[in-house]
Amino acid sequence: MNLSEQLAKLSPSLTKAFYASDGSSAVEIAMKMSLHLRQIKGESKRTHFIALENAYHGETLGALSVSDVGLYRKPYESALFNTHFISPLPYVASTQDPLWHDCEAHWQAIETQLQPLRKTTTAILIEPIIQGAGGMRLYSQDFLKRLRAWTLKHNIHLIADEIMTGIGRTGKWLACHHADIEPDMLCLSKGLTSGWLPLSVVMTRPSIYDVFYADYETGKAFLHSHTYSGNALAASVALEVLEIMTQENICHQVTQMEAQMRQYMQEIASETGKLSHIRGIGGIMAADLMPSENHPRIGFLVSQKAMALGALLRPLGNTLYWLPPLNCSNETLTELKQITQQSIERCYAAI
Ligand SMILES: Cc1ncc(COP(=O)(O)O)c(C=O)c1O
Repeated sequence: MNLSEQLAKLSPSLTKAFYASDGSSAVEIAMKMSLHLRQIKGESKRTHFIALENAYHGETLGALSVSDVGLYRKPYESALFNTHFISPLPYVASTQDPLWHDCEAHWQAIETQLQPLRKTTTAILIEPIIQGAGGMRLYSQDFLKRLRAWTLKHNIHLIADEIMTGIGRTGKWLACHHADIEPDMLCLSKGLTSGWLPLSVVMTRPSIYDVFYADYETGKAFLHSHTYSGNALAASVALEVLEIMTQENICHQVTQMEAQMRQYMQEIASETGKLSHIRGIGGIMAADLMPSENHPRIGFLVSQKAMALGALLRPLGNTLYWLPPLNCSNETLTELKQITQQSIERCYAAI
């Protein structure tokens, strides 16, 4: 109850909480909620989902169906349902990019591809502002605004998967805040307990909650439960995390960390000549490693070297990224920079 009250402050219209235990479950819950609502309301044609190119929403079958990362999807393709992936997206390197503020030219083409789907779609899923496992790709906040307006116009739910971006990761409590939008369903996990215990939640509107709230005989109840859904210990940790985030003004710290990480990544790029496409926002910074003919998995090689030197640098193909704890000290960031640079230099020298 206490936690739900705190979470209800994140986005004024989203005051109802449905708990689970991990990110993929939250995505499944939001998708099921959308579909179930259509059934109750007699909107039986609305059965399809739309997502974004390079989307990653988790690894259960529903979540995989709306994910666009071949590595995770391929072996299960036969069990996945059809999803339309919006492409091409107006990707940007930073909030300084003109496209961040205005993506009119891109939007026209996107609206044209969406138009035929407007009557059969139940929901659009997004990782707001920055996509994670699909390559740490930052896109225009103006695109998000336009997409939100379009979903409202056509009675389509917007599901914001903030499992990676939520709770301060992008320098705001929610990535949706960068575009001043409110989704219909908001999925949170990871940062909710600062990564300490498994917990996730789907926040939604009273108007959606009310559709399921009825006498038992009507059979309208929304059912989705896992053994550890809404675990009490995890919930109390989440409550504490929200308290500390507020007290220590972590979002402000994250904004400062962004500037530091960008500068460090740029220094590595100019000192090694091996990085391109530096991008990021808040506590996320990424860049692409120059391809190597001798070693197609250079990202893996660099990450192994970094691990040996003391930093966990998980690669996404040949994309390297930093996603440190939100209260990471300057000293640790400096060490991260040094290890990253040494790893890159040593690996390229060795191949
Ligand atoms: C944006 C996004 N959605 C969903 C998930 C899936 O969460 P989980 O691994 O907890 O199932 C992740 C996990 O990395 C994620 O980053």
